[in-house]
Amino acid sequence: MASLQFSKVAHSNRNSFADLAFTRRAPPPRSTRPTRVGFKVFASDSQTEPDLSVCVNGFQMPNPFVIGSGPPGTNYTVMKRAFDEGWGAVIAKTVSLDAAKVINVTPRYARLRAGANGSAKGQIIGWENIELISDRPLETMLKEFKQLKEEYPDRILIASIMEEYNKADWEELIDRVEQTGIDAIEVNFSCPHGMPERKMGMAMGQDCALLEEVCGWINAKATVPVWAKMTPNITDITMPARIALSTGCEGIAAINTIQSVMGISLDTLRPEPCVEGYSTPGGYSCKAVHPIALAKVMNIAQMMKSEFNMKDYSLSGIGGVETGGDAAEFILLGANTVQVCTGVMMHGYGLVKKLCAELKDFMKKHNFKTIEDFRGASLPYFTTHTELVRLQKEAVRQRKAVKKGLDSDKDWTGDGFVKETESMVSN
Ligand SMILES: Cc1cc2nc3c(=O)[nH]c(=O)nc-3n(C[C@H](O)[C@H](O)[C@H](O)COP(=O)(O)O)c2cc1C
Repeated sequence: MASLQFSKVAHSNRNSFADLAFTRRAPPPRSTRPTRVGFKVFASDSQTEPDLSVCVNGFQMPNPFVIGSGPPGTNYTVMKRAFDEGWGAVIAKTVSLDAAKVINVTPRYARLRAGANGSAKGQIIGWENIELISDRPLETMLKEFKQLKEEYPDRILIASIMEEYNKADWEELIDRVEQTGIDAIEVNFSCPHGMPERKMGMAMGQDCALLEEVCGWINAKATVPVWAKMTPNITDITMPARIALSTGCEGIAAINTIQSVMGISLDTLRPEPCVEGYSTPGGYSCKAVHPIALAKVMNIAQMMKSEFNMKDYSLSGIGGVETGGDAAEFILLGANTVQVCTGVMMHGYGLVKKLCAELKDFMKKHNFKTIEDFRGASLPYFTTHTELVRLQKEAVRQRKAVKKGLDSDKDWTGDGFVKETESMVSN
C-alpha cells in the first residue's frame, strides 16, 4: 500500500521534479550530465537503404541492437567481439563491489525444446539459467571496460551494476565504473535468483519504496545516463518503472528473466538444472518469453507516453529476440533499442548481421526510412476489452447496414438488373 501511495505522488508531480517530496536525493539536472558523443553514424550502404542508426539519451548508435547483460558481455574478449561484429552497444555482465560473494554452480542452464516430450530435435524455445552476476573481480572488469573504451572510443559500452541496500556501496560502485569511461549505467533491479537472497536484484525491483530510495541515491551520484532494468516478476511493471523515471533515471530496460522451474526429470524425479541432485528456481528467457516481454514493454510504453515526455527518456526492449521481426515488434511498441542475450548464446555474435538485414527488409516493405518512422506505431492499437466489444458491435451494425445481394428472386428489377447482378459476384 505504501508503494501505491508513493507512485501516485510521483505520477502527479511528474512535470516538476524539483517539487517532489523525495528530491532530498534529487539527481543533478540532466543538463549537467555530459552529453555522450558516441558512435558516428555509418555512411549508409546506399541512399535508398533504410537507416538503422538511433540516438538514445544523447548517444548515437549505428543500429538499435544491444548485447543484453549476461554471458555475451562477460569479459574483454567477448565484448570486443561484439563491437567487431557491429552490435550497436554492449551491456556488460552485472558487476558488484565484492565478487568473492558471488559463487556460481554448474550446470547452470537448462533448455526447453518444442515438440513431443521436448524431443532432442525440437527447436529450443525456452532457456533457464541459475547463473549469478559476474563472479570476476571488480578490478578486472573495470580494467577491461577501460581498455575497451580506449580501443573503441566511439562505441557505446554500458556497465550493469547491482549492490546491496547500502548508499555508500552504491556510490562507490558508480564512481568506480564511471572512472573507466563507460557511456551509461544499467541498474539490475531484476535478477530473480540467488541475489534476492541478499536483498539485491529482483528483491529491490519489486519493492517500490526501496526502489525509490535506491534510485534516489543512484541518480544523485551518477553523471552518465542511467537505465533501470525491470523485473517481470511483479503484478504491475509500470509501478517500479514510473518510480525509476520519476527519481531521475533516463531509461527503462525490460524484461529480465521470468522466475521458472524448467522441468523435472521423469527418470530421476529431480528438477533441472540439477546440481548435486538439487536445483533452485531460475530465470526464464529465449523465444518463449517474447510475448510476455512484449506485453510488459507495451504497458511501460503506454505509461511513459501518457505520463512522461517520451523524447527525454528511453526504453529498451528485451526478451526472446532472434530475428529482425522480433526486434521490429519491440520498436513498434515504442522501444528505442532492443537487447539480445540468449539469442547470442545460441547463434553467436554474427547474429547482429542477420538482425540488421531482417529489420531493413521489414522497413523496406513498409517504406520506413528510419527507426523513428515506425517507433511506437502499434501502441495506439491497444485498448480495453470493453472498447473491443463496443468496436465490434459498431462494425457488425455497419456491415448489416450495407446490404449485399438480393434476398429473393422476386427482388430483381428491370432498371437495376446489371447492378443487382454485380452485387452478387465474388471476384
Ligand atoms: C545465462 C544468463 C545470464 C544472465 N545474466 C544477467 C546479468 O548478469 N544481469 C542482467 O541484468 N541480466 C542478466 N540476464 C538476463 C538477460 O540480460 C535478459 O534480460 C533476459 O535473458 C531476456 O532476454 P533474452 O531472451 O534475449 O535472453 C541473463 C540471462 C541469461 C540467459
